[in-house]
Amino acid sequence: MIKKIGISLIVLLVIAQFFRPDKNESGYETVVAFESETSPSPEIKAMLRANCYDCHSAQTQYPWYAAITPVSYWLADHIEHGKGHFDVSVWDTYTNKKKDHKLEELIEMVEDKTMPLDSYTWIHGDLSEEDAQKLIDWAKKVRSTLK
Ligand code: HEC
Repeated sequence: MIKKIGISLIVLLVIAQFFRPDKNESGYETVVAFESETSPSPEIKAMLRANCYDCHSAQTQYPWYAAITPVSYWLADHIEHGKGHFDVSVWDTYTNKKKDHKLEELIEMVEDKTMPLDSYTWIHGDLSEEDAQKLIDWAKKVRSTLK
């Protein structure tokens, strides 16, 4: 009985591999407008790319296990949800008011460690306190230039 269930599960998983969501891979060119307006230093740029763009831009760097269904769907869902809230690849379509609000959220979420998401930092490692502070300082500075 257990053996039968085991075999069925494996067969299901193998079949599931034929189903994969579309990838979020439009390239880092899509973040150029955001970066030219917010002028992050090379250090901040690297932090954003390593910690945020995977869910908040049109370019995700997929880890190997992202190719496995159902993980692929779980990730796609996170990306879609994250981009729905904040997508630097469509930054130039945001009004100044919206930009300011997103940066305000960013500061809050990095301060209270809601971002990056826990499920992400388990695997990728978290931002250090020092890096988080640098990110916050940068976002504050950008906000002051938006007004
Ligand atoms: C694994 C995916 C993932 C990563 C990585 C991630 N986020 Fe998010 N982010 C989300 C999701 C999902 C939401 C929607 C959160 C919710 O409603 O609970 C969100 C929401 C946000 C929001 C709120 C936007 C709004 O208007 O409500 C901001 C700002 C944000 N993230 C910034 C960041 C920053 C900055 C980083 C990097 C330090 C980051 N995120 C990393 C998935 C992610």
